[in-house]
Amino acid sequence: MSDSGDEMDVDVPIIMAAEGAKGKRSTANLPVEAEDSLPWIEKYRPATLADVSGHQDILSTLNKFVDTNRLPHLLLYGPPGTGKTSTILALARHIYGAENMRQMVLELNASDDRGIDVVREQIKTFASTKQIFSISGGGGGGGSGKGGAGYKLIILDEADAMTNAAQMALRRIMEKYTANTRFCIIANYAHKLSPALLSRCTRFRFSPLKEVDIRVLVDKVIEEEGVNILGEATDALVKLSKGDMRRALNVLQACHASSTPLRAKDAPKTPAADIVRETITTETIYTCIAAPPPDAIREIVDTLLNTTDVTSCLNTINTLKVAQGLALADIITALAEELGRLEVKPEVMIHWLSGLADIEHRVAGGGGEVVQTGALVGVVRNGVELWRK
Ligand SMILES: Nc1ncnc2c1ncn2[C@@H]1O[C@H](COP(=O)(O)OP(=O)(O)OP(=O)(O)O)[C@@H](O)[C@H]1O
Ligand SMILES: [Mg+2]
Repeated sequence: MSDSGDEMDVDVPIIMAAEGAKGKRSTANLPVEAEDSLPWIEKYRPATLADVSGHQDILSTLNKFVDTNRLPHLLLYGPPGTGKTSTILALARHIYGAENMRQMVLELNASDDRGIDVVREQIKTFASTKQIFSISGGGGGGGSGKGGAGYKLIILDEADAMTNAAQMALRRIMEKYTANTRFCIIANYAHKLSPALLSRCTRFRFSPLKEVDIRVLVDKVIEEEGVNILGEATDALVKLSKGDMRRALNVLQACHASSTPLRAKDAPKTPAADIVRETITTETIYTCIAAPPPDAIREIVDTLLNTTDVTSCLNTINTLKVAQGLALADIITALAEELGRLEVKPEVMIHWLSGLADIEHRVAGGGGEVVQTGALVGVVRNGVELWRK
């Protein structure tokens, strides 16, 4: 499922129609002065297809579809924060121009009711009405100038949350109104959609973004917002966001906010340029993401590999857990990554990974931390014994 950041998508097409014409980047329904207080994920939401980072293949295919006026029904799926919603909104703006989006695009997402009634009534009504006047000139606000695309677009965001009955009802509607409507279905998991629906769409998988693609936007935001961050901290941020651009921007904004000094209640407002901010370090990033810091993980690995005494291994881990507030689940993830880098016999690696997977499963299922920490030490030490044999 998508995370909470998406709640901002609700009114996007309508607002763009109002603001896009003025060339504003803002997509939320706020006065322009409020742009400063917008979350960065909205402030820096790509306005055009060219602004979307990564996914070059998908973007060039989409562009070709539009240029030849042969847009099929689309299915965009992939993990959260990879730009699915942004891409389709930018595409819609490219096709119709910002001012025509309101008439030509119907966007429904998980926050709207999308039960069978809506599919039957709202979608059907929208799909079945033809556009009477061709849209002249079209592409204001960055559009392509081919406003006369003879079809409307229905965007069903977070479609994996739609009821089965609604998905079924959609099949026939999609076929019946293909002459004047295109559907774009967006989901995190394609397997939650009905196979019949999938077969009617051209599928595009949005894979987690590459580190270089995340870096492009992160660097831009750092520069535009004047974020005081060390180079190595940016590296850590990009790596830890694991392909999720939304996460990267949210963490960056949180760190930036915490590095800004508080203003006394009646003190006059300091001009933005004069505010002295603390430098954001790698530790700040790790704390904000709540990932175990690399030093702690390295210490745990060293202890586990080199200490034969199980009790003292357990003591070290427990002390670190308490001192740094680490959760066992996070330790397991980081440990699996570290152990995976070691060059050991295949059977040792298999023993470690399958053991860690079991422990992770038990922790997620409610297993107690104390006993499972013991199991963790056991699994790693057993592997070491196998290795040294
Ligand atoms: N490829 C990208 N290029 C530029 N910005 C991006 C990209 N992907 C995500 N973002 C940033 O992250 C925010 C969220 O992206 P978006 O809403 O498109 O994600 P999504 O794929 O629809 O995620 P979800 O599955 O959670 O709905 C955007 O506002 C934008 O700031
Ligand atoms: Mg989305």
